[in-house]
Amino acid sequence: MVEKLLQMAWAARSRAYAPYSKFQVGAAIETASGHIFDGCNVEVANYGCTLCAERTAIVKAVSEGALLPGGLKKVVVAAITQEPTAPCGSCRQMIEEFADPADCRIYLSRSPDKIDLELQHAVLLPYSFNGSALRD
Ligand code: THU
Repeated sequence: MVEKLLQMAWAARSRAYAPYSKFQVGAAIETASGHIFDGCNVEVANYGCTLCAERTAIVKAVSEGALLPGGLKKVVVAAITQEPTAPCGSCRQMIEEFADPADCRIYLSRSPDKIDLELQHAVLLPYSFNGSALRD
């Protein structure tokens, strides 16, 4: 099933809107209910409004009512770099928000034919500030 996500992440990368950085990123996610969404980075001229590929995919899933309950099980990130591209700090916080705490894996890919690195979401944001601090 990661193969399908891999394929979708790379296809999404080709739709990246990155006229400023020219750095194209694709992502694909799988939810606990088995739904799959993809996303690309979307840049805006003021830079600050830029959305990363990972957050695009997550927002699409939440907005379609497909991420909750259950949460996020898999995230694939596709980018062409020397070292695997890992989610930025903002994306890590959003992944933490929706990750299935028991098991959410992050897969980093530098080419369409393979995953270079597989990580548990918790290693990306240790000692995270999360919703448990705000819920009763
Ligand atoms: N970017 C992503 O989409 N995902 C990442 O994991 C790293 C960075 C985007 C944001 C921006 O459009 C471009 O890459 C350069 O930072």
